[in-house]
Amino acid sequence: MCGIMGYVGSRPAGPILIDGLGRLEYRGYDSAGIAVLAENGGLSIHKRVGKLETLASAIADRWPNGHEGIGHTRWATHGKPSDINAHPHADCTGDVAVIHNGIVENYLELKTELATAGHSFSSETDTEVIPHLLEHYLGENEELVTALRKTIGRLEGAHAIVVMSRQHPGTLVTARVGNAGGVVIGYGGGENLLASDLPALLPHTRRVVFLNDREVAQVTATRVTYWDSEGRPLEKEPQEIPYDSVSAAKGQHKHFMLKEIMEQPESILDTIRGRAQFDTPAVQLEDIPLSKEQLAKVRRVVFVGMGTSLHAAMIGRHYMERIAGIPAEVDNASEYRYRAPIIGADTLVVSVSQSGETVDTLAAMEEAKRQGALQITICNVAGSQATRIADGVVYTRCGLEIGVCSTKTFTASVTALYLLACYLGQARGLIDKERLGGLLEPLARVPYLAGEVTKREAEFERLAHQFHRYNNFLYLGRGIQLPVAMEGALKLKEVSYIHAEGYPAGEMKHGAIALIDREMPVIAIALKDDMHDKMMSNIEQVKAREGTVIALGSEGDEELAAKADHVIYVPEASPLLSPIFTTIPLQFFSYHIALRRGCDIDQPRNLAKTVTVE
Ligand code: G6P
Repeated sequence: MCGIMGYVGSRPAGPILIDGLGRLEYRGYDSAGIAVLAENGGLSIHKRVGKLETLASAIADRWPNGHEGIGHTRWATHGKPSDINAHPHADCTGDVAVIHNGIVENYLELKTELATAGHSFSSETDTEVIPHLLEHYLGENEELVTALRKTIGRLEGAHAIVVMSRQHPGTLVTARVGNAGGVVIGYGGGENLLASDLPALLPHTRRVVFLNDREVAQVTATRVTYWDSEGRPLEKEPQEIPYDSVSAAKGQHKHFMLKEIMEQPESILDTIRGRAQFDTPAVQLEDIPLSKEQLAKVRRVVFVGMGTSLHAAMIGRHYMERIAGIPAEVDNASEYRYRAPIIGADTLVVSVSQSGETVDTLAAMEEAKRQGALQITICNVAGSQATRIADGVVYTRCGLEIGVCSTKTFTASVTALYLLACYLGQARGLIDKERLGGLLEPLARVPYLAGEVTKREAEFERLAHQFHRYNNFLYLGRGIQLPVAMEGALKLKEVSYIHAEGYPAGEMKHGAIALIDREMPVIAIALKDDMHDKMMSNIEQVKAREGTVIALGSEGDEELAAKADHVIYVPEASPLLSPIFTTIPLQFFSYHIALRRGCDIDQPRNLAKTVTVE
């Protein structure tokens, strides 16, 4: 979850950059750095591993001299946290400095190509290919902004990038690709700024422009110019951010729920950062102080949670069995605690809780503790009670989730559970490097693909408008998609007050089928996986009773398109990770139905974000 800040104007840049990065502190830090361009053409780069204050105190009595600069706080993906791996990164000449948020998925290939062409690399990061690509294009006499446009054309994945160059004083250039972190440009008087999020800009200005996918901007003290990915000029007018802080926090979104749905590519990326190592496949989880011997003794895993977290836990069970090869069960925490469960010292209890304060989940954890089980919690709130009870924690790094119904914390919990299963498989010697590599490679692509799905909001909105008047829905799924069907139904109930059931498709024949008629649309998740044929039969059974089917399917599935009334295609992905891509359209669907029905989306009636009573 990197923080990005840039300034060009007449004030000293250093203190503005450090102050801005401090306002992005909720994004967390493992290292930080700034680059400032002095009027005499000197580019000074200061980087420090550790929190921002380490960098701030290192430069407090010798602020770099200059009125333009860029700053970054890093959460590592490629390359451990260190001074050298911190951003900004420079090219061979030291002319170009770059800060970046994202994963360059094809960095190995680019690094080999650039190294063969004579570029020398000093860090272990994927980011460093960016300044070297820029150096290459600048060497062909391209303008800085064209060089950046050509560079992003070479990168796979989702990115936010800011560049400054000694050869182009008074100018910052920036680009956004996909949805793994934004860029907001702030318009000041005789100065301009940019940042990854609004809080860093608000002390300076409320007039802002949000950069869209594949847009490029050039920022000087007096002017901001925009282009699309083909280099065609774009007109963009700054919008005024209202004074009230809640609206400010929502940015350009109408509701926190929508904002949080949109943030998923970034929160998934942040949850992966520094934990999955892609070049020499490995998973490191920083807050699990359990020895290999303790992990080797685990014979059974029990997942507990409530609501959306329970649905994430259900997906976790599939991961635990299929990746780590450990028998796993999942239970509703409020049932588990009263069931007199048999928990032994060889049981690992994995709780999932966004807040870490849900009373039933905590009670289940207390019971597990009393019976001597090892415990790991998947949690979003540092220092919460669940994190204090558990022996280990895998934090989801979503920042604050304000919408009462969970969205980004669901997909981040699923990501954390995937990492946990890989970690246990690796620690117990069950998966070798090759298999681990095969599991991590598709994970690296998830933030980008999730961004591709969020871009299709208009399509999901159109579908929601066709269906917003119905009063009952049935959601069907099998295997790893059953929890998604249940989560889809839960979202619809929570925000639109429509009755919806999430059901195992195989169980449908034993009751729910009696309900099917023209008035009860059926949402069927029927990807091209090993459940495809069974789901197709279930869809036939619904159609035979005049039911309307909205299917979620794999790209290019003509057979499904011929049978279902509407098809939402989701990107081709590893079957284990596909629940992330089937979930996001269902979140949008619920959101837009609720919007049409005039519901109180961020604070639905009768619900609470954290339930601390039984
Ligand atoms: C409440 C919220 C849900 C949430 C559930 C579990 O019901 O409205 O969105 O999924 O609690 O909360 P937790 O904080 O334990 O994930």
